[in-house]
Amino acid sequence: MTDRTTVHLEINGRAEALDIEPRVTLLDALREHLGLTGTKKGCAHGQCGACTVHVDGERVLACLTLAAQAEGRAVTTIEGLAGPNGELHPVQAAFLEYDAFQCGYCTPGQIMSAVACIREGHAGSDEEIREYMSGNLCRCGAYPHIVAAVRQAAEELTAQKQAAE
Ligand code: FES
Ligand code: FES
Repeated sequence: MTDRTTVHLEINGRAEALDIEPRVTLLDALREHLGLTGTKKGCAHGQCGACTVHVDGERVLACLTLAAQAEGRAVTTIEGLAGPNGELHPVQAAFLEYDAFQCGYCTPGQIMSAVACIREGHAGSDEEIREYMSGNLCRCGAYPHIVAAVRQAAEELTAQKQAAE
């Protein structure tokens, strides 16, 4: 008999209890057990960033994280990024505005990484954006547009923050 465990996660603000094998990754838990297929499986070995999600606000590679390691924690995926009325997050809007994707496969991971990169204060220049987004690969080579989108979103979010202070 296979061992199973119950893992409690808050996914995009909603409490979930998953009855899964302890070896199930957070990526497979999201995609296969919860049907949240926005988070992509690229390499499954921590090398492409396609699976980037946030756990308690910090970016993690869901393919290298066991679901059980996130027990009791808050997970945000691309599906949870838009506002309550469906309004796009400024990073999502900037990716659209700047055509920052081609096939789109890397895009959810790029966007989740970009949100965290801006929040970490690592989006002050194009060089910094490139450095702190370097774990997110794009096989289509959309990097110049991605950097432009992140820079624009960072400026907008900084202005919003200053206006609120
Ligand atoms: S699928 Fe996780 S880093 Fe590639
Ligand atoms: S848009 Fe195709 S892999 Fe990035």
